[in-house]
Amino acid sequence: MPVSSVIGLQWGDEGKGKIVDLLAQSSDYVVRYNGGNNAGHTIVFGKKKFFFHLIPSGIFHKNISAIISNGVVIDPGVLINEMDILENEGINLKKKLIISPRCHLILPYHKELDAAYENARGKKKLGTTKRGIGPAYSDKVSYNGIRVYDLLDWNHFKELYTFQAKMKNRILRTFGVKPVNITKSLSLLKKQRLRLLPFIRDAFEVLNTASEKNKRILFEGAHGIMLDLDWSPYPYSTASNTVIGGINTGSGLPVKSIGNVIGVVKAFTSRVGGGPVPTEIHGRLADAIREKGGEYGTTTGRPRRIGWLDLEAVRFSCKINNVSELVITKLDILSGLLEIKLCVGYTLNGKKLHYSECGYKELEKVKPIYKTFPGWMDDISGVRKFTDLPKECKVYLNFIKKFLGVKYKFVSVGAERNANVKV
Ligand code: GDP
Ligand code: IMO
Ligand code: MG
Repeated sequence: MPVSSVIGLQWGDEGKGKIVDLLAQSSDYVVRYNGGNNAGHTIVFGKKKFFFHLIPSGIFHKNISAIISNGVVIDPGVLINEMDILENEGINLKKKLIISPRCHLILPYHKELDAAYENARGKKKLGTTKRGIGPAYSDKVSYNGIRVYDLLDWNHFKELYTFQAKMKNRILRTFGVKPVNITKSLSLLKKQRLRLLPFIRDAFEVLNTASEKNKRILFEGAHGIMLDLDWSPYPYSTASNTVIGGINTGSGLPVKSIGNVIGVVKAFTSRVGGGPVPTEIHGRLADAIREKGGEYGTTTGRPRRIGWLDLEAVRFSCKINNVSELVITKLDILSGLLEIKLCVGYTLNGKKLHYSECGYKELEKVKPIYKTFPGWMDDISGVRKFTDLPKECKVYLNFIKKFLGVKYKFVSVGAERNANVKV
């Protein structure tokens, strides 16, 4: 199918970067359409490891174009840093990278505000990445945003920025936070502007023409469905729509054009930041999975909370996105466990209820209904054929497929591009 999307069906960090990088091999365009540099997508090939926060993960492939479309919020410094890394790797970005003028900018005061709000929440902090994401999107919604478009005319930008920064500085002062130095930040932004200008181009026309010509377009979702602004246990959310509808608003391509929705599911649950995780586990088992899986935030380095795979939540994700194919990742990390649990539903006060019926207070209290499976001892990271997997592993995978009613695209058993089991 010419237009596909890769989206995370849990709380983020499902391994989307690896999958996008792999599928981008047979794509003409790869597109980020939501979120900002709160995302951290890892790709590994050979001995090299790259972390992308803003640039689409498939950019390494030879004939691919990478688009950052209008739904993304851009921190210029972070983007430029990634561009520098890629250019040092010999990638000619001039031929590959397009930045939509409609993207909103994350500016210095957004990061200060993010931190100030978190500090003010004290013990009730949400655990944001402090990258300024919420404040940048809230400026967008309240017509106080400044876009990449505004960078095109420096005098106009300077005026907008000075007005906004003065307003934000008044708020920062009430928090007792040092205000943003407007002159200094403007001089840095002036340099950043020059670096970004050659890449600014209307992304809609490019994508629309590509779609009409049946070019292969791959959308790279950021975060996960359980973090969606509308469908997460708000306020334990991120500030963009991670559901499939985000592609339409965040890139302009019609929803109907998206043929294949590939849902990425980690074989267990991980979560960075606060908020309810019904299947969370603690203690030695959680620590062992975290260490073996390297479950530390790609963006912030925070240890990820760990839990069993929550199929009640993932079933919701499959439905709301009409997921057509599944990729299970990190199955290799579960090797060596005597037993493995899967959450197949929730109860609250003895009554069954679904994920969509829960606000964060209910989700904090629900009791997961578990089905327990025998584990497997063999290391499966070298397995490439389904038939070669241990019997217990096949039982686990078959149960998930049947429960969710979605077929597998493949199963991932390692961070490398080719570490996949054909199903
Ligand atoms: P993303 O945000 O969804 O792209 O995921 P992250 O990059 O934040 O975190 C996923 C981590 O798991 C990265 O370190 C990947 O290199 C790694 N990874 C992805 N798939 C697999 C897998 O199947 N097995 C193992 N062991 N690691 C994987
Ligand atoms: P990828 O694309 C994991 C979480 C944060 C926090 C909440 C709000 O790598 O899967 P924000 O900074 O967005 O305002 O923080 O959302 N969060 C993520 N967690 N992976 C991500 O992205 C995330 N993006 C945001 O930890 O709980
Ligand atoms: Mg990540």
